[in-house]
Amino acid sequence: MDDLEVEQQAGPRIAVLGAGKMGGILLQAFLKQKLFAPDEIAATVAHAERATVLSTQWGVEVTTDNLGAAAGADIILLAVKPFQIEALVRSIAPGLTKDKMLISIAASVKTSAIEAAAGLDLAVVRAMPNTPSLLGAGIAGLCRGRYVSAEQMDQAVRVFETVGRTVTVDEKHMDAVTGLSASGPAFIYIILESLAEAGVKVGLPRDVATLLAAQTTFGAAKMVLDTGYHPALLKDSVTTPAGCTIDGILELEEGGLRVTLIKAVMRATARARELAAG
Ligand SMILES: NC(=O)c1ccc[n+]([C@@H]2O[C@H](COP(=O)([O-])OP(=O)(O)OC[C@H]3O[C@@H](n4cnc5c(N)ncnc54)[C@H](OP(=O)(O)O)[C@@H]3O)[C@@H](O)[C@H]2O)c1
Repeated sequence: MDDLEVEQQAGPRIAVLGAGKMGGILLQAFLKQKLFAPDEIAATVAHAERATVLSTQWGVEVTTDNLGAAAGADIILLAVKPFQIEALVRSIAPGLTKDKMLISIAASVKTSAIEAAAGLDLAVVRAMPNTPSLLGAGIAGLCRGRYVSAEQMDQAVRVFETVGRTVTVDEKHMDAVTGLSASGPAFIYIILESLAEAGVKVGLPRDVATLLAAQTTFGAAKMVLDTGYHPALLKDSVTTPAGCTIDGILELEEGGLRVTLIKAVMRATARARELAAG
């Protein structure tokens, strides 16, 4: 028992700077998955009243003191808005040492900009999670900065595995990850809502239509993930010659669903490139 206590005390400490929507989701997942104990986590927000509320709600230390939280942590998760990142890193620079790791979840902000703001050769990982992380069904794209060791990268991956899957990509692909999987849940909700609306149009009660649409979306995604089959092959297996599905597909093609989705991700990716500038 004593050994266990010693081991737990020796575990790394994490600071979540900017515990808003995404930072809060991650922090709660760390607690739920026991990746960090409550006393190994310090979080910050901008408003003192919110800090008090969140501290009680989560049972962890939440303050407005970024420098203090960063100075006491081994891993520092940067979760404020992209345009705030560089100023935040400059403000915690006195508390940074080379053995610490910064993980930024901000869209758009490059690892080199964070390294420059830190003012020392520090490990910086950039990650782009998404909101289904709340349920452990997220996916995060990660890339490494210049000074990240293999061990540190493994540690960063483990942080995001507590909330779902991960992919490691070159930094040049991070805006594309943002446009596809970070914005993606919003696109899928619109598709899902439209399918439910369609169910209502063809006479189904709304709750039944929404359940049918949601479980169908979930099931189709699970088929792709679990079988590894190309989506086109799975689509073909639903499409009986001269059946009803092919008529539906004809409407989708005529309505330009594919091109619309491709353009949506392209636009979101292009916008992701601009966010660091505010
Ligand atoms: N939402 C997503 O789906 C998503 C997905 C992936 C990545 N991200 C990234 O996550 C970051 C945050 O986005 P969000 O949607 O979570 O925004 P959000 O809900 O507005 O959270 C931002 C948090 O930062 C806090 N904050 C602001 N200034 C601060 C400061 N100087 N020091 C400490 N905390 C400060 C705010 O505190 P108060 O609560 O007191 O105002 C708030 O809690 C962005 O960089 C975004 O690119 C978001």
